[in-house]
Amino acid sequence: MLKIDALNKRCGIPDVLSFDEGEGGLPFARIRSDRGEADISLYGAHVTHFKPVGIEHPVLWMSPEAVFAEGKAIRGGIPICWPWFGNHPSGSPEKPAHGVARIRMWEVKETGVDDAGRVRLRLAMPGKESDLALTLEIVVGSALELRLTTENTGDAPEAMTAALHTYFSVSEIGKVRIKGFDGVEYWDQLEGNAVKRQEGDIIIDREVDRIYVGTEGECRIVDEGWERAIRVTREGSGSAVVWNPWIEKSARLGDFPDDGFPGMVCIEAANAGPDVVTLQPGMRHVLGIKISVTP
Ligand code: BG6
Repeated sequence: MLKIDALNKRCGIPDVLSFDEGEGGLPFARIRSDRGEADISLYGAHVTHFKPVGIEHPVLWMSPEAVFAEGKAIRGGIPICWPWFGNHPSGSPEKPAHGVARIRMWEVKETGVDDAGRVRLRLAMPGKESDLALTLEIVVGSALELRLTTENTGDAPEAMTAALHTYFSVSEIGKVRIKGFDGVEYWDQLEGNAVKRQEGDIIIDREVDRIYVGTEGECRIVDEGWERAIRVTREGSGSAVVWNPWIEKSARLGDFPDDGFPGMVCIEAANAGPDVVTLQPGMRHVLGIKISVTP
């Protein structure tokens, strides 16, 4: 409790941003402004909730069976995959899937409200992974923006992959079309990374686990059921992962309800597959996502 009090004193903003002990006793930042609301777990620097004012349904999907405990990744919201996406490049089973950032406790460096009334938080992951240092800037207004900055503080080049593994909430996956990938090549992770080409909109009617490559444009999740579209723009992201576990994989995942898959889809701003970032000494890389909703 002492830590929460100190955080509120140092970084709280009256009526807009406060910290509390949330699910699993983990520290959370709660933003409630006249533009939008968001919850952020400092464990994992993990956004677990976002909703612009005037929008009925939350934008992010959270698993009702998510586990909130140190050592475990939180299922839903926006996990940060870093500095490797998927399994560690060495294949070592000792290295956690999707890297270390989502299972570390982060620190709050700075908070504020900008001239446009958006609430800003800057978080840092204590320590380094190899020589890579990591910070995350989160901006909450009527849109949600995340900017993940990696800096190579060492004196040799470092390679990394990453993703802002965003789980979007949808009315019912059969009423959803994902636009913006027509003609784009993807690695089909369900078929040993066979390279295929998207034709038309993405429609999810089976397990999907794909890395779309060589794509930097914007995409839209058009949801007829909730009569809304979610617009996703990416920064520093030459690849996008699209994932839905469908029936069998949902059943295998302990923290994912068997009937949860029709209510979600992941579209991840990524540097994944062939989109490996090599950082020279002293260089930085920013991976960003901006999410907004139109009725
Ligand atoms: C996706 C991967 O990004 O994350 C999938 O492409 C993976 O292969 C999914 O199953 C979930 O990963 P995790 O480690 O959170 O269960």
